[in-house]
Amino acid sequence: MTESTPPTVRRIAINTGGGDAPGLNAVIRAATLAALREGWEVLGIRRGYMGLLEPEVDGEPGVMQLTANAVRGITHLGGTILGTTTRGNPFGLEVRQPDGTWGKVDRSDEIVECFRKREIDALIAIGGDGSLSIAHALYNKGLPVIGVPKTIDNDLSATDVTFGFQTAVEVATDAIGRLHSTAEAHQRVMVVQLMGRHTGWIALESGISGGADVILIPEIPYHVDRIAEKVRERDVQGRRFSIVVVAEGAQPADGVASYADASGRYGGIADRVAEQITEVTGKETRTLVLGHIQRGGEPIAYDRSLALRFGAAAVRCIREGSLGTMVALQGNRIRAVPLGDAVHDIKRVPADSELVMTARQLGISFGD
Ligand code: F6P
Repeated sequence: MTESTPPTVRRIAINTGGGDAPGLNAVIRAATLAALREGWEVLGIRRGYMGLLEPEVDGEPGVMQLTANAVRGITHLGGTILGTTTRGNPFGLEVRQPDGTWGKVDRSDEIVECFRKREIDALIAIGGDGSLSIAHALYNKGLPVIGVPKTIDNDLSATDVTFGFQTAVEVATDAIGRLHSTAEAHQRVMVVQLMGRHTGWIALESGISGGADVILIPEIPYHVDRIAEKVRERDVQGRRFSIVVVAEGAQPADGVASYADASGRYGGIADRVAEQITEVTGKETRTLVLGHIQRGGEPIAYDRSLALRFGAAAVRCIREGSLGTMVALQGNRIRAVPLGDAVHDIKRVPADSELVMTARQLGISFGD
């Protein structure tokens, strides 16, 4: 549900939750400057919601005043000036029990109370599906929230794209491109593992742009024999090297269900795929796990611009009383969509999408 009566706003807060993504600071800057122009006071909550629960850590206050000066010159900076955490869900915070084991405690009521006491009229929550689900749950408890979609994975529904994604694709494309010469020099198969959790957006976009021969994504389960076929086909054509891009969440058609551990962290698939390629083809393989380089450093211009647009749009939503929504890019327009729609389902790569079709027409194998 969204409200449509413009509220009286005096003070808003901004936080960043979950894994960082290039462009977070640009959102913070745009939202802060736009809010200050409305005459509102702007607070920044550090480390998701933790800054409210831990008012001071190492002499640093949990909540900071966001002035024009505080957000000066940060559009191009990676990370987030507010800090973030992947372990700050107020509905299930991890706590050490007296017997030394870990348990979970729900402190969401305290968060709502903190907002009330500090007289914060609205929160701009910048996050991915996890953080926006938390924001949605807090909205259902009465907190006036606007969500801003962030994640390099691009897996949020209701928006065509999340900020941070294009920067990750750029970094991954550059890495894949650099592997061609060394792979060819040694006549090897290079297997590159990219992020994306249970979706293959980064692998697909950068695999196509970087000239991969094989792209493995979670949405299209693979057979090792089919990968080997592609590698052999290239050998026969005199191209005695291959580049295999594998999304960290890719799935073999048979066997292991997923390469995620109990906490949901992915790892290990590149090594396994490389081993199997060597077993079947006899070819030498090497692996590269690109990791957090995909998330670090400066956002590219596209993400800076999108992040600035999202930040400004979030302020317009507050001004218009469009709460419980998320700003989203649809076509070339920024719209407000119900927060619930955005976190309802993960956006996966449709196996019959135009991008997949393009890759197939270029001769790229999905191992299927
Ligand atoms: O969701 C963003 C992401 O970078 C995923 O692509 C990746 O699986 C995960 O976060 C890594 O999380 P962490 O930074 O906690 O290792």
